Amino acid sequence: MDVNDAISGRRAVRNYSNEVVDERLISDLIDAAIKAPSAFDQQPWMFTVIRDQGMLDRISREAKAHLLATAPSGPQSDHLKSMVGNPDFHIFYHAPVLILISAGSQGPWIAEDCALAAENLMLAAYAAGLGTCWIGFAQSFLNTPAGKALIGVAAGSVAIAPVIAGHPKAQPPHVPRRAPEIRWIG
Ligand SMILES: Cc1cc2nc3c(=O)[nH]c(=O)nc-3n(C[C@H](O)[C@H](O)[C@H](O)COP(=O)(O)O)c2cc1C
Repeated sequence: MDVNDAISGRRAVRNYSNEVVDERLISDLIDAAIKAPSAFDQQPWMFTVIRDQGMLDRISREAKAHLLATAPSGPQSDHLKSMVGNPDFHIFYHAPVLILISAGSQGPWIAEDCALAAENLMLAAYAAGLGTCWIGFAQSFLNTPAGKALIGVAAGSVAIAPVIAGHPKAQPPHVPRRAPEIRWIG
């Protein structure tokens, strides 16, 4: 697939079939992820692939509780609170797999490096016929000592990009982009 087709066609997918994602395909996505550039070529990323549905249900429950307990008060939080307060809301939309991109240790550009790896992974997934969605709702819980212990990652690691993947039931509609502000100098 042409890279522009992948960039234009990728959507955040929130509705998946039960079809299992082939293990080799997941490895191919990680292979695409690690081709991202990284500051000083540090390649700080590490990947945790979670396919255990019981574990994903538990992370969803605990991440929602964590979000509710830590959300600041105010109108901006009301939407978040009503969403994550709904017991039927599953933050991973029952996707068959979560690929968590974490950094092995702290550093000034780990977020940028891991986000670039995540975008590579999501574009490669789209080109392979899979859907993906970055699940920011999972991030704060996965950075707590309890979250790290639950998935067995080192206490010093930093969870940056929790990305669900699976076979989409339907391709979501395009989300229109606002015209960007562009300033030309010279
Ligand atoms: C950092 C980040 C966090 C996100 N967190 C969530 C999330 O927790 N739940 C969700 O359903 N979508 C999440 N998304 C997906 C965005 O809502 C989605 O990318 C945006 O609405 C644009 O839609 P598109 O990806 O289809 O173009 C997140 C995206 C990013 C980049």
